[in-house]
Amino acid sequence: MANEDIFKKIIAHAKEYGFVFQSSEIFDGLSAVYDYGQYGAELKKNIMDYWWKSMVQYHENIVGIDAAIFMHPDVWKSSGHLDAFNDPMIDNKDSKKRYRADELIEDHIAKLQGKIDKEVAKASKRFGDDFDEQKFLETNPRVIRNREKIDAIIKRMVKALEEDDLKDLKQLIIDLEIACPISGSKNWTDVRQFNLMFATQLGALGDGASKIYLRPETAQGIFVNYLNVQKTGRMKLPFGIAQIGKAFRNEIVARQFIFRMREFEQMEMQYFVRPGTEQEWFKYWKEERMKWHLATGIPEENFRFHEHDKLAHYANAAFDIEFNFPMGFKELEGIHSRTDYDLGAHQKFTGKKIQYYDPETNESYVPYVVETSIGLDRTFLAVLTAAYTEEKLEDGSERTMMKIPPFLAPIKAAILPLTKKDGLPEKAREIMDSLKYDYMCFYEEKDTIGKRYRRMDAIGTPYSITVDHQTLEDNTVTIRERDSMEQDRIPIEKIAGIIAERIRIKR
Ligand code: GAP
Repeated sequence: MANEDIFKKIIAHAKEYGFVFQSSEIFDGLSAVYDYGQYGAELKKNIMDYWWKSMVQYHENIVGIDAAIFMHPDVWKSSGHLDAFNDPMIDNKDSKKRYRADELIEDHIAKLQGKIDKEVAKASKRFGDDFDEQKFLETNPRVIRNREKIDAIIKRMVKALEEDDLKDLKQLIIDLEIACPISGSKNWTDVRQFNLMFATQLGALGDGASKIYLRPETAQGIFVNYLNVQKTGRMKLPFGIAQIGKAFRNEIVARQFIFRMREFEQMEMQYFVRPGTEQEWFKYWKEERMKWHLATGIPEENFRFHEHDKLAHYANAAFDIEFNFPMGFKELEGIHSRTDYDLGAHQKFTGKKIQYYDPETNESYVPYVVETSIGLDRTFLAVLTAAYTEEKLEDGSERTMMKIPPFLAPIKAAILPLTKKDGLPEKAREIMDSLKYDYMCFYEEKDTIGKRYRRMDAIGTPYSITVDHQTLEDNTVTIRERDSMEQDRIPIEKIAGIIAERIRIKR
């Protein structure tokens, strides 16, 4: 199935089964804004809990905060966002579609890289076990030619972005003969910069109201609280401050479902370190974060690192963890070495000393920062993408299943009386009441048992527990496992233990 079709199916499934709805749908929706439904909200909360536990609970030197979305407007002047938090945009005059200029160029680079990958795959097939990929990459003339092209494009793009040379960015698009994916034409406008921050007014209009911004990243709420947390928590370097919260960006090109939204949620952690040790911690967090993703059980081939060609205005090194979304490998999480840029800027702007006294070296300095920043909504989309499974069963029927890692699944167990009579619902309710205080459970007695199993498969419930007539005789139930569909007969008192074992986060 084409990736585009899979994406459409995932979006339709997310709506049909109460994971994600278009915001204000009955008013025809609001572009690039989404609401999470009854199962989506549970899944999102479970991802949040997994991140919070891994960061805050499992690290004695990381604490969590919850800062306000509104901040003093000068924060954004000082942090550089007012001047530099821009995207270079270009419009196609025929399709009237707007694109990020750097993304158009990156897509072109991805095509050249695709050609290299194809050459490698072909040669690997031809030479079998004798294939030396490194040597092939270094010697094959077609690969070398494409590699040189890619390097030259990246160099020119980065230079144009860094020097804010929008004319050359447009010229690069023209020189590469990049066409609009919709109209197929090369009829482009000039490239212009758009600031991504949403502005609003604090106080009644005309009453000395001041312009404030909806935060475009949660990180600044951490930076401005650095001293508060360090002092009140008596924190010693290295230490981290973590936060989960909403961020807002007036994304000009907001498409691709919950991948790029105007209101979204970030899970960020700023790790404050002694200057000179930041590279070591950068490496550490890069690896730690990849381990976190892999511990979900989502196969490794879905993730890869990508080093930034162009750095954000605050960073001196940056890697992304990319995920293989239906539209290809795209950024899921960023790991940035932010130096002392933010604390240093706020110190300068406010005139307040933001320093750490290091008892080991007897010095005071502005700490350096390594940041891990992951989008909660993108993680949600990654989980849905990896989980979506269409299966043909032995009897010829089909089922659509969400193979969500059990510890993230919205519902852990469904309690299903086989029929609505003979005292089965009462017994099933007893079981529901014994489990629901520990696990998110779901009770249902409508429809055939087969239909109910399918519904639970579709929302990713790892266990379905069926109460039948034998239950009344010997206090046993059948427990059906989602992925294998295997059913076992077990005593009621064993249910809780089985669920607990399966939904434990494996570290
Ligand atoms: N504090 C650093 C920072 O904000 P970023 O790379 O701009 O860095 C971090 O954003 C993460 O936030 C991204 O890796 C992505 O997962 C998520 N994110 C960014 N923009 C988003 C958007 N418009 N919609 C959904 N998620 C977004």
